[in-house]
Amino acid sequence: TGAITLDPGYKNTGSCESAITFLDGEKGILRYRGYSIEELAEKADFLEVVYLLIFGELPNKEQLTTFRQDIVAQSFVNEDMKKVIDGFPSTAHPMGMLSSLTSALIAFNPKSVNVSSEEDMYKAIVKLLAKFPTLAAWTLRKKETLPLENRDTNVGYVESLLKMMFQKPGEEYKFNPTVVDALDKLLILHADHEQNCSTSTVRIVGSSHAGLFASISAGVSALWGPLHGGANQAVIEMLEEIKADGGDTSKFIDKAKDKDDPFRLMGFGHRVYKNFDPRARIIKKAADEVLDALGVNDPILDIAKSLEKAALEDPYFVERKLYPNVDFYSGIIYRAMGIPTEMFTVMFAVGRLPGWIAQWREMRLGGEPIGRPRQVYVGEPLRSFKEVDNR
Ligand code: CMC
Repeated sequence: TGAITLDPGYKNTGSCESAITFLDGEKGILRYRGYSIEELAEKADFLEVVYLLIFGELPNKEQLTTFRQDIVAQSFVNEDMKKVIDGFPSTAHPMGMLSSLTSALIAFNPKSVNVSSEEDMYKAIVKLLAKFPTLAAWTLRKKETLPLENRDTNVGYVESLLKMMFQKPGEEYKFNPTVVDALDKLLILHADHEQNCSTSTVRIVGSSHAGLFASISAGVSALWGPLHGGANQAVIEMLEEIKADGGDTSKFIDKAKDKDDPFRLMGFGHRVYKNFDPRARIIKKAADEVLDALGVNDPILDIAKSLEKAALEDPYFVERKLYPNVDFYSGIIYRAMGIPTEMFTVMFAVGRLPGWIAQWREMRLGGEPIGRPRQVYVGEPLRSFKEVDNR
């Protein structure tokens, strides 16, 4: 072994070759399989993007119909999974529940565990795509003590997610097309983002051949953190804190700039986007449309706007190229849709699922070796053991 190159946080280390997502952080470009995120967000629906990411091409009509039907056919979640949810306290965080439920799904689908042929992979992938939104919706229903329902197979993938989340017993759920469209767009924008923290986690867990469901469960845990997917929840909590404190954003901007204070402006900055986050631009527009259509008048929005303006003008943020990221706005939309703050990262997970799956499949089909980074040892040199009485 030669000298080890140290690169904490892998800021300059490529971990794999990938043909899925192209990202240019300087120019603010994001493409899935060669298609620009702007065009996909405008013209595609989420399930088409799911297919595109995983299988590499946009599906034709027949492929899309088969894919839809295969997912619908697998959407029923084993009744015993409800017992797993029953065991959680109502205070459990939905992301903790979702990660555990994804893992628990392995026990009920043992054949999906360690697949290697393309055909078996397809079956496992479809199973997960079919059941994951149900599990996601159930984490909300658990918190709201609503009965756990299976998917309505007569409505689309995104519609069924909304229905499973919000339908009250004995009531008919009415779809709002603006909400459906906005959610579809949000899921597309979150669907993949090359080798981010959770995706790298999925690939590295998968590289031990632990199986798709175990890899995705690990990805959910990685996404939970406030520096990653948990940022959308953290943004709203921060805005609420500012509001409760009297609404003075400058005080919080000063806090974020203070190097002795660990506080950061949530929803600002990105590891790779150093000019702007192209997803943030699309989502900002969508946020305005949703808020208009729903007639939402939320005092938190004024705080968000003034924070955004101040941060974009303040030299500290300008010099460090810290711009609002996708999660600065996604939380605002989710809130307007009536989704509880704790659920925001779960919504991100539903969106990111196809990306994780595509990356896992690419890694397995490409026969990638087990992920095993090296280190630079900085601990004690050899020393002799002292018996406990002599320490
Ligand atoms: N508020 C205040 N200062 C910041 C912020 C922030 N949000 N983000 C970065 N900085 C400063 C940081 O202190 C450092 O300053 P200095 O050079 O003086 O030491 C400089 O900017 C560079 O930051 P870094 O931590 O080296 O950058 P990174 O690439 O390691 O971190 C990040 C990227 C996203 C973790 C970070 O910007 C952050 O913590 N942002 C807030 C959390 C957030 O919104 N995360 C969601 C990211 S988008 C969703 C996703 O895909 O995960």
